[in-house]
Amino acid sequence: MAEITRVTLKRPDDWHVHFRDGVMLQTVVPATAREFARAIVMPNLVPPVTDIAAAEAYRQRILDAVPAGRTFTPLMTAYLTDQTSPETLREGAKRGVFSAVKLYPAGATTNSASGVTDIAKVMPVLEVMQEIGLPLLIHGEVTSPEIDIFDREAVFIERTLGPLLASLPALKVVLEHVTTKEAVDFVSAQDASGIGATITAHHLMINRTDLFKGGIRPHLYCLPIAKREVHRQALRRAAASGDRRFFLGTDTAPHAKHLKEAACGCAGVYSAPVAMPIYAQAFDEMGALDKLEAFASLNGPAFYGLAANTDTITLLRKPWTVPASIAVDGGSELVPFMAGETLNWQLA
Ligand code: NCD
Ligand code: ZN
Ligand code: ZN
Repeated sequence: MAEITRVTLKRPDDWHVHFRDGVMLQTVVPATAREFARAIVMPNLVPPVTDIAAAEAYRQRILDAVPAGRTFTPLMTAYLTDQTSPETLREGAKRGVFSAVKLYPAGATTNSASGVTDIAKVMPVLEVMQEIGLPLLIHGEVTSPEIDIFDREAVFIERTLGPLLASLPALKVVLEHVTTKEAVDFVSAQDASGIGATITAHHLMINRTDLFKGGIRPHLYCLPIAKREVHRQALRRAAASGDRRFFLGTDTAPHAKHLKEAACGCAGVYSAPVAMPIYAQAFDEMGALDKLEAFASLNGPAFYGLAANTDTITLLRKPWTVPASIAVDGGSELVPFMAGETLNWQLA
């Protein structure tokens, strides 16, 4: 069979991004807007995006960073805290400001200190979200220090997510950035209309051994942390299955180089500049390029009740080398995922 050298698909969307704020927006928003039409924007700023006014102002700052001539729609999320009021979410959803609500267990990840300390405290809010069909996006890891970091997602599913879905069966939920076979199996067993899971590009490419290949690799450190190879294979099968519950979410999470290459380096992989080439490479390696459009462009909009995009992008099999680092206005640098390595695919 002739080698596939180009793939055209409906323009994809990224259902999980961190854009940060301030001067960083000028670098990271264009990188996402180049490939994607829309993105679910995570609210873990300092202070977090907890109300309508903050989300509207942040959306405008993002729009101001979109290069002239590009159309890009940021879809905003509310950061759930123990204090979030159901009225704020009702009103924010009604006004089209909030596309979803993000649940960070307090202490689970970057800027999650204001997150939820106990699911019981937000049950009234979750009941309202179930009623109005506002999706809950979950960073699914327990925070108990005695649970091994590699087990935190599986334990969260068992202790928290399973019981939550049992008590709120019609709540729309996305289990974000899944990293385990347990997560894939759990999501696959739920009713497809109510559950989704995002899969990052980097978790399709690396396993936990790669974190220590030849020495410690701070730019591959993210949360949830990459797991064993058997889990990466489960993620690859889920992504390439065409199953509508699984869709693209890069979790592109830029941190300045000096904050990654540090004694206590930040968690997050900056993947926006390489996202579609990496997904194409992973699907190509699986012989599943025909399933890329469902994963990248169709399943996410279907979950969120939105139409798929009408324009297209084309990826070409044409090797290129990822830059070693990218300068950010203000003097810092970002090291993208796969920095310095050669990728087989690029945007036409
Ligand atoms: C994210 C960040 O840096 O904001 N980091 C990460 O490792 N994924 C937060 C998150 O998505 O958990
Ligand atoms: Zn997360
Ligand atoms: Zn994230």
